[in-house]
Amino acid sequence: MKERVDALKDEIKRFTASNKDQLEEFRLKFISRKSVVADLFSNMKSVLPEDRKEMGKLLNELKHSAQEKFKELISSLDNRKASSSAPVDLTLPPIPDTLGSLHPLSITRKRILEIFERIGFNVSYGPEIEDDWHNFTALNFPENHPAREMQDTFFIERDPDVVLRTHTSSVQVRVMEKGKPPIRTLSPGRVFRNEAISVRAHCIFHQVEGLYIDKNVSFADLKQTLLYFAKEFFGKNTKIRLRPSYFPFTEPSAELDISCFICGQKGCKICKHTGWVEIGGCGMVDPNVLENCNIDPDEYTGFAFGMGIERITMLKYQINDIRLFTENDIRFLRQFKSVN
Ligand code: DAH
Repeated sequence: MKERVDALKDEIKRFTASNKDQLEEFRLKFISRKSVVADLFSNMKSVLPEDRKEMGKLLNELKHSAQEKFKELISSLDNRKASSSAPVDLTLPPIPDTLGSLHPLSITRKRILEIFERIGFNVSYGPEIEDDWHNFTALNFPENHPAREMQDTFFIERDPDVVLRTHTSSVQVRVMEKGKPPIRTLSPGRVFRNEAISVRAHCIFHQVEGLYIDKNVSFADLKQTLLYFAKEFFGKNTKIRLRPSYFPFTEPSAELDISCFICGQKGCKICKHTGWVEIGGCGMVDPNVLENCNIDPDEYTGFAFGMGIERITMLKYQINDIRLFTENDIRFLRQFKSVN
């Protein structure tokens, strides 16, 4: 019986199946209930009791090797089938990945927030549909004052108190009304102005507002904060320049310029050969604004600044048409994949 087991083991080992019929032949002969292996098990009765233990072991090994071989035969037949029905052409170029990317304005907003978060600024948001108080009056724009015309406002016909916010400075007011100094916050968001759409202007665009209120905040703090930002965002050789200006909500007020990083101040089209490009406005928060928001101007001072996200993005990536941001042209957007 032992020789018979060895012979069968050998036969199992050498068996090959190149089609389903041969596989079935193997199953019937070695696996099924009527297989030779099953026969041998039923013959155990005639084995001498002292040999039974060893015989049982041999038969179990035989059964196991038949089962393993059967699995092997199935998988090699499957592989053959797969490769014959779909031959793989290893010379084909790979399928390009179709992952999306962040919008350039999102990339800029994210970078600005990260830079200011590193020096303790948090992020705050306000509504796009505003009331007159938050967009104008609290910010020291007197009623009927021509300063309101600096920003071509979208009013709602039914209700003169409702406007689409013209700037993110409205969020300053909301933060100050709700919170207590020290306040260090950045407010990014969409703003709306009644402007004709052109290469340089859009009626919907984005700004980011910065606000810092505490005891003893000075103009030097403002300047240093803006310089830190300019170096982090545009490169460490960037310089800044503050030009006197006017905003109702800051006193003194200034226009913020950065040194032209495109020509290194040698003079180019972007900086109109001046070596400087404007990126926003800033100033010390007017005491009237603090009072309007229930903050004591004798105890606290602060600075604020506002920048256009489109403007900064256009400078950074040398984009010459603001309309590209809203056209969703995939050829434009794809170019920002590597910048994410
Ligand atoms: N809100 C101004 C605008 O939209 C920008 C600005 C200027 C914001 C000076 C400020 C600031 O916070 O201090 O033109």
